[in-house]
Amino acid sequence: MTSTTTSPAAPTTHRIAAIPADGVGIEVIDAGRHVLDVVAKIAGDFSFDWTEFDWGSEYYAQHGRMMPEDGLETLKPFDAIYFGAVGWENVRDDVSLWGLRLNITQNFDQWANIRPVRFLPGVLSPLRKADDTQLDWVCVRENSEGEYAGLGGRNLAGRGPGNEVAIQSSLFTEKGCERIMRYAFDLARTREVKKVSSVTKSNAQQYGMVLWDEVFARVAADYPDVETESVLVDAMSAKFVLKPEDLSVVVASNLNADILSDLGSALAGSLGLAASANINPERRFPSMFEPVHGSAPDIAGQGICNPIGTISSGALMLEHLGHPDAARVVEAAIENVTGRGVKTRDIGGSASTREVAEAVAAEVEALWRADEDTRTPDTSDAALA
Ligand code: IPM
Ligand code: MN
Repeated sequence: MTSTTTSPAAPTTHRIAAIPADGVGIEVIDAGRHVLDVVAKIAGDFSFDWTEFDWGSEYYAQHGRMMPEDGLETLKPFDAIYFGAVGWENVRDDVSLWGLRLNITQNFDQWANIRPVRFLPGVLSPLRKADDTQLDWVCVRENSEGEYAGLGGRNLAGRGPGNEVAIQSSLFTEKGCERIMRYAFDLARTREVKKVSSVTKSNAQQYGMVLWDEVFARVAADYPDVETESVLVDAMSAKFVLKPEDLSVVVASNLNADILSDLGSALAGSLGLAASANINPERRFPSMFEPVHGSAPDIAGQGICNPIGTISSGALMLEHLGHPDAARVVEAAIENVTGRGVKTRDIGGSASTREVAEAVAAEVEALWRADEDTRTPDTSDAALA
């Protein structure tokens, strides 16, 4: 196509499905959307077209299911999903989770779950060494199989009380292990410290985890420039506390990474800080961005929950959608805001959810303006995937 005019290209519109779901999910998605809309407005070359869905435990109370039967079909055309939190007392947790969040991650083959552990200025870590040591690592979670394969069953209830049995099988496939490990190595290559730590338990789990180790050794051979180690999950939990400066990229199976990522965010100061990206790297399906924390019924509806995990997840979404500069600005804005002491209660402040979101949005504007002269419109397709 040729054109004689020099007018800028029309802004890209990203169609995003917002699913706040339960509890504090509603407040944090509202906060995250506010920041993302400000980023888009100020960047000027993209915008968000939001569609909000009321799926979740309240929807379940009315319809007997967490999302409509054709919910996945409805979500499929979106560019990404921005997800809050799921779980409420009216629905058993396994029903609500498999009915919504795990339904989406599994069926959209969001096999890579990326969870950065970030230590922010002005946020006290329970780790004393965080005061004077540079700490920064990423958990790369296998997100499609392993201990979350959903394989198993219950039986023998007919024999009477006390006799029922249950089997919950883990599934490890060479393909599943290999793709997440390659993802971890590729990510490590983009980082200052080029190292991948594999989390295993092959001393006790002699089938699945031995396969995991074998695939790790095979994949590592293709990345001679990346340092590796293989650490048992129990030892890794100790290492998170005792020698976290040794970590850069940590690749682990579904359950092991689930547990370790909570430990990581607690060490960084609060579960409310941690971001998460459920990525379908092939982009056959929309990827989903969400905070690591849950629906927090004890503080839901009070406007005091920490929106930073959700706002940081928004930064991961910006990166995935091809706006790495905008993502960096959001991350820098978060650092400046916590550094100034604008913080929610969980990290020792007294600001409301909304106040933190507004402070981050204002800081995004200030940083963007300060940088305006040097900035060129961001059209790069670089992304997490
Ligand atoms: C998380 C959560 C989920 C998980 C639950 C809600 C199913 O704990 O995102 O870490 O275990 O994957
Ligand atoms: Mn978890």
